[in-house]
Amino acid sequence: GGATDYQAEDATISQGVAESNHTGFTGTGFVNYDNLVGSYVEFAVNAGSAGNAALTLRFANGTTANRPMDITVNGALVSDELAFDATTNWDTWVTKSVTVPLNAGANTIRATATTAGGGPNLDRITI
Ligand code: GCU
Ligand code: CA
Ligand code: CA
Repeated sequence: GGATDYQAEDATISQGVAESNHTGFTGTGFVNYDNLVGSYVEFAVNAGSAGNAALTLRFANGTTANRPMDITVNGALVSDELAFDATTNWDTWVTKSVTVPLNAGANTIRATATTAGGGPNLDRITI
């Protein structure tokens, strides 16, 4: 089937908050990660069959510094400190893609901040 959007603001948020005080997001807002190591957003993703899939994360980073995050799937590290580079301002959203292995049926995909700046603002994932 085609790709599905999962809104960050509807996902499980640990040490972050759903907000809408910048423009350009989809859905009803985005997640503002707390600016610390370990803040995360976790998505429940269903897959019709096992195999690799393209995971796309839509984010904004209005600072001048990378806000890396670890991407884990079903508890396994898939992308170590994936870069989420500056996007000029908090109203400018771009996408970052990575290939992830999915199980048939239920999966969890987690994006965890790995530096003291926390994650970028996260709008959604598409997979
Ligand atoms: C600003 C911005 C937030 C962002 C934060 C940050 O406060 O309004 O949306 O999350 O910077 O630096 O993480
Ligand atoms: Ca933040
Ligand atoms: Ca959103």
